[in-house]
Amino acid sequence: MQSDPSPFGIRGFLIDAPNFGSLRSYRDGAIIVQDDRIAEAGPYDDLRRRHRAAPVQWIDHGTVAIFPGLIDCHTHLPQYSAVARGESQLLPWLRENIFPVEREFTGPKAREEAPLFFHELARNGTTTAMVYAAIYEDSCDVGFEAAKQSGLRVILGKMMMDLGSYGQLQPKKILSVSLIESERLCRKWHGAGEGRLEYAFSPRFAVTCSEKMMRSAAELAQRFDAYLQTHLAENREEIEKVHHLHMSARDYTDVYEKCGLLTPKTMLGHCLHLSAREIDAIATAQANIAHCPTSNLFLGSGLLKLDQLLQAGIAIGLGSDVAAGPELNMWQVMRGAIDVQKARSMSEQNLPRLRPSEAFHLATSGGARALGKSATIGSLDAGKEADLIVVDLAALLPYGKQGRRFDDLNAEDILALCIYRGGPHANLETYVRGKCVYRAPHVSASA
Ligand code: GUN
Ligand code: ZN
Repeated sequence: MQSDPSPFGIRGFLIDAPNFGSLRSYRDGAIIVQDDRIAEAGPYDDLRRRHRAAPVQWIDHGTVAIFPGLIDCHTHLPQYSAVARGESQLLPWLRENIFPVEREFTGPKAREEAPLFFHELARNGTTTAMVYAAIYEDSCDVGFEAAKQSGLRVILGKMMMDLGSYGQLQPKKILSVSLIESERLCRKWHGAGEGRLEYAFSPRFAVTCSEKMMRSAAELAQRFDAYLQTHLAENREEIEKVHHLHMSARDYTDVYEKCGLLTPKTMLGHCLHLSAREIDAIATAQANIAHCPTSNLFLGSGLLKLDQLLQAGIAIGLGSDVAAGPELNMWQVMRGAIDVQKARSMSEQNLPRLRPSEAFHLATSGGARALGKSATIGSLDAGKEADLIVVDLAALLPYGKQGRRFDDLNAEDILALCIYRGGPHANLETYVRGKCVYRAPHVSASA
C-alpha cells in the first residue's frame, strides 16, 4: 500500500450525490488531498492557479471520473468462494451451500482467503464495507488482520448463532463461547487501525439465535458502543419459522425490538416483507437498512418496497450480500436496485422509478448515513476524509477512445455508463483516507 503524506491533486470529472435525487459535478475538476482529508474540491484551473506556488503533486490520468468511494453495507467474507452456487431459496440454500463453506473457513483457508477478499473489495472501488465473518474466532481475527493490511475501512464481526449451528462445540457451550469470543474480538479490534476498523456484534438472524443470544449481543454492542448487524424479513419461509419460534411476538421485527437489537448503530439486511407497523418501529428506533438487490434476485427473495422505507425516513445503504449476491461490484448492485424498482413498477401503478443518481446516492452518501458516518465519508466535500475512486471513462465506452467524444457526456451519462457497464476493469485507483489502497497494474503512480 502506498502512503501519500504530502499534498497531492487529482484531476478528473468530479461526481457525487450528497442529496437523494440530484448529482453534483465539475467537468474539468480536481481534488486536493492533504494528509488524510479532502482539502479542496473544485474546477481544476482554479485549484492549479491558486496552488501554483505550493508543493502539490498533480496526478492526471486523462479522461477519468472521480467519485466518492463506494460503500458496501452488507457482505459475508467466508462466502465469497461460493458465489453463484445453488438454485434454491434462502433456508435450503444456507443449509446446502453456505453452512458447508463457512464451516471450512478457519485455519489456513481463512488466512489464505481473507487478504484476497479485501483486495477484491479495493479493486472493485469499495472503500468501506460492513462484513460478517464465520462463527470461529480466528475467522474474524484474520479477517481484521487482512482488513488492516488492506487499508480499507471495515466493520466486521464474528457470526453468532446458537441454534442449528455448523460448529463442533457441544450445544450447551455454544452460547457462552460465542459471547466470550465476540467480546474478546471487540476489545481487540473496535477502533483499531486508527479508527478505520470497527466491531459489529453479528447475531445471524432469529432462526439461528436464541433470545438470550440476541439480548446479550445487544447488551455487548451498547457496552462497547459497537455496531450490530443481522438479517430481517428476507424470505417468506424464514418469516414463518420465526413466527413459530416466537408466537408471542407481534411480528418478526418485534422479536428484535424486544431483545434490544433495534438501535441507531444497527444494520438490518434485506427487510423485504415488512408491515407498516414494522417499518414504523425501525424508523422510530433509527435503525438502518442494507438493501441487497442482487442477492434478493438471486435467491428469489422479493422486491424491496424502497419508496415506503424512504418515506418513513429510514437510512438505507446498499449491500452486495456475497454469496447470495454474485459479485462485490457495487455498480452491479446499483443496477440491481434500479431493476428491482422497474420490475415493481410493471405491476404496481404510480411507483417512482429509482434513477441512476439515486442508486448512486444510496451506494455513497446513503451508506455513509446508514453507518453514522455522514460527517466523515460519502461525498467529495472539503473536510471529509479522502475516500475516493478514479474511474477510466474509455473503459466504459463501446469503442473506447475511438468512439463517442467525452465532451458530449454529462454527469448523468457517465454515471449511467458506470452503473450499466462499470466494474474493476474500469477502476484505476482506490483511495482511503488519502492513501492509495489499490492501483490498476497498467497505471503509473505519477501519471
Ligand atoms: N440470513 C441468514 N444468514 C444469511 C446469509 O448468510 N445470507 C443471506 N442472504 N441471508 C441470510
Ligand atoms: Zn447476508
